[in-house]
Amino acid sequence: MIKRILHSSLLFLLLLENSVADSNNDIAIYWGQNDGEGTLTETCATGKYSYVILAFLNNFGNGTVPTINLASHCDPLMDGCKTLSTDIKNCQMQGIKVLLSIGGADGNYSLASSDDAKNVSDYLWNGFLGGKSSPSSRPLGDAVLDGIDFDIEISPPQHWEELARYLESHSTPARKVYLSAAPQCPFPDAELGIALSTEVFDYVWIQFYNNPGCEYEDGDVNNLLNSWNQWTKSVKNGKVFLGLPASREAASNGYVPVNVLVTDILPAITKSPNYGGVMLWTTYYDKQTGYSNYIRSFSCTQQNHTECRGNDEHKANKWWIWLMVGVGAAFAITCFILCLCCVSRRKDKSQVDGKLDKKISFTEPNGVNPNKTENIKLEERRSNEVKVFNFESNIAASNNFSSINKVGEGDFGPV
Ligand SMILES: *[C@@H]1O[C@H](CO)[C@@H](O)[C@H](O)[C@H]1NC(C)=O
Ligand SMILES: *[C@@H]1O[C@H](CO)[C@@H](O)[C@H](O)[C@H]1NC(C)=O
Ligand SMILES: *[C@@H]1O[C@H](CO)[C@@H](O)[C@H](O)[C@H]1NC(C)=O
Ligand SMILES: *[C@@H]1O[C@H](CO)[C@@H](O)[C@H](O)[C@H]1NC(C)=O
Repeated sequence: MIKRILHSSLLFLLLLENSVADSNNDIAIYWGQNDGEGTLTETCATGKYSYVILAFLNNFGNGTVPTINLASHCDPLMDGCKTLSTDIKNCQMQGIKVLLSIGGADGNYSLASSDDAKNVSDYLWNGFLGGKSSPSSRPLGDAVLDGIDFDIEISPPQHWEELARYLESHSTPARKVYLSAAPQCPFPDAELGIALSTEVFDYVWIQFYNNPGCEYEDGDVNNLLNSWNQWTKSVKNGKVFLGLPASREAASNGYVPVNVLVTDILPAITKSPNYGGVMLWTTYYDKQTGYSNYIRSFSCTQQNHTECRGNDEHKANKWWIWLMVGVGAAFAITCFILCLCCVSRRKDKSQVDGKLDKKISFTEPNGVNPNKTENIKLEERRSNEVKVFNFESNIAASNNFSSINKVGEGDFGPV
C-alpha cells in the first residue's frame, strides 16, 4: 500500500517532468576531424550539444584492419586514443550521448558479405559498445559508447542494413544501442538508402551541404525545404535532423546564413512531427562562429521557453513544478504516517483482544514487484533529466568567437 502510493507519486512526477523537458531542439555535432577544436571534455562542457559524434572509424570491412582516425587528437596506432575513455565518460555523465561514426568521405571501408557485416558488428560491439573484450582491444578504452553513426559515403550500398540489424539486436531495455545515419540530401541516399529502409535508426541527420540541388543556394530555401519534406515523410521511426555546416568554411557549399536559418528554415521544419534538431559539421567551426547559439535562441523564442533567458527566471518560472512536487511529497508523507498509525492501532487492538494478527506487513501481498517498473521509469527519467540539464547548461554557455589558430584539419569530412 505504502509502496504503491509512493510509486504512483513517483510516476506522477515523472510524467510532469516529461511534459516539461520534452523539447525537440537537440544539437548533434561531429568531433574529431579538426585540430584546434578542443578536447572532447571541453566540447561537452559547453553544454550546447546533446549528441557528440566521434569521427571516424574509416578503415574496416572486407579484410581491412579496422583503424579509427581522430586527426591529431590521438594516435590509435600507439594506443593513444584510449585516454579518450575519461572524456567520453565525462560527456555521458552530463547526459550527452557519444556515438562513433563509421565511414566518412575518405577511407577504406565496405562490407563484402553478410558474414563480413556480422564480423564488423562483432568488432564494433566488442571494441566500442557493451561487448566483452580485453581492454587492450578497445581503441577508445573501457568507456561504453552510446551507439554507432553510419556516415557511409564511398561504399557499395549492400549489407549496411544487415550491420544495422546486428547492432540493433544488442539493444536491451536497460541499455540501448543508438543508431544514427548521415545521408546526403538527394533522396533516396545512394549508399544508405537500403539501410535506412530498415527503420532501425533513431536519428537521421541529413547533410544539406556539398549537395547542390537539395541544399540552400543563393537565397533560395525551396530545394532544401522540398528535400526536408521528402525525408521527414520517409523516416517513420527516428528523429530527423537538419545537417548544416557550422561556418562558411566548413563545406564547399550549402552554408545557411543565420538570419535565413532563423526566419525561413527553422520556423518551417520545426513543424515536422519527427523534427529532432540540428546536426552541425563540426565542433571546430561551431567554436569559431557560435552557430549553435543562434539555433538555441531561436528555439527559446519559438517555444516561449522562458527558461532560456536566465537562471533566476528559469527557477521562478518553474515555481508551479516545485509546488506540485511539494504537494505530492506532503501527500505521500501523510499517507505514510496514516498507514503507520493504522498499523500500530490495529496492533494495539489485537494485543487487547489477545490475538496477534500476523498478516499485517509492509510488503505487497499480491506478488507485484513495483521495483522493476520503477527501474525502467528511472531509466526514462535519466534520459529526461539529460534534456533538462542540457537546457540549463546552455544558459551558462556564452558565445565563443575566439579565433583559434587554424592549424589544419582532417581530410575525412562528410562530402
Ligand atoms: C586505404 O588503403 C590504401 C592501401 O592499403 C592505403 O594506401 C590508403 O592510405 C588507405 N586510405 C586511408 C584513408 O586510410
Ligand atoms: C573487397 O576487396 C576485394 C579485393 O581487394 C575487391 O576486389 C572487392 O571489390 C572488395 N569488395 C567490396 C565490396 O568492396
Ligand atoms: C569473420 O571472422 C571470422 C573469425 O574471426 C573469420 O574466420 C572469417 O574469415 C571472417 N569473415 C569475413 C568475411 O571476414
Ligand atoms: C510567445 O509569446 C509571445 C508574447 O507572450 C507571443 O506573442 C507569441 O505568439 C508566442 N509564440 C508562440 C510560438 O507561442
